Amino acid sequence: MVDDPLLRFQEDRRKARDAKDPMAAVCVLATVDEDGLPQARTLVLRDIAEGLAIYINASSPKWQQVQGVIALQTWWPSLQVQYRMQARCEELPATHIAESWQLRPDMPKHLDWLYEQIAQGSAVEDREDLLAQLDTAPRPEPLVAPPNARGLLLLPQSIERLDLNQTNGVHERRRYTLHADQWAVETLIP
Ligand SMILES: Cc1cc2nc3c(=O)[nH]c(=O)nc-3n(C[C@H](O)[C@H](O)[C@H](O)COP(=O)(O)O)c2cc1C
Repeated sequence: MVDDPLLRFQEDRRKARDAKDPMAAVCVLATVDEDGLPQARTLVLRDIAEGLAIYINASSPKWQQVQGVIALQTWWPSLQVQYRMQARCEELPATHIAESWQLRPDMPKHLDWLYEQIAQGSAVEDREDLLAQLDTAPRPEPLVAPPNARGLLLLPQSIERLDLNQTNGVHERRRYTLHADQWAVETLIP
């Protein structure tokens, strides 16, 4: 059987979901900001027909940071398995966003429209000020996805799987690297 790390990832993730692992839904996305500093944040990691995807807002500084290669990490305590990936990002078409955005709850939709006025991550006076701005920010009726709502398909170039769940206590660490559409695999010292 071909050792395909993306199939393995999906299979492990399915097991984590079956085990009701709260971490199964999310990943940590790491980028480098315009000052060369590392930045990491939790995001929902989506499964779409084309592969793994994330949804973010282009008003946030992280939008510029995902134009190159990103690092992504998952940790599923239920399985004792960590994945680390480096991936290129490909923007999802507006037609995809228009459809998937409709599935968002109301408040995130309203926030997405506020970001059209004031960028995500901007400082406001206080929480009352934020709520007031959220109330008064113009938004269309019926609600549609604003221009800054974006999604990215993740195209992993290297994937490392660390499996702590070994009876002899020696963790299994494998690195998969994509070469001309083929995954090469190496065992690494954990
Ligand atoms: C469980 C969880 C899920 C999240 N999912 C998303 C997400 O899918 N998209 C997103 O932009 N931010 C998400 N966030 C918020 C981000 O972690 C982050 O706070 C926000 O995007 C601002 O990050 P920035 O300063 O890099 O723009 C999530 C946070 C948590 C705790």
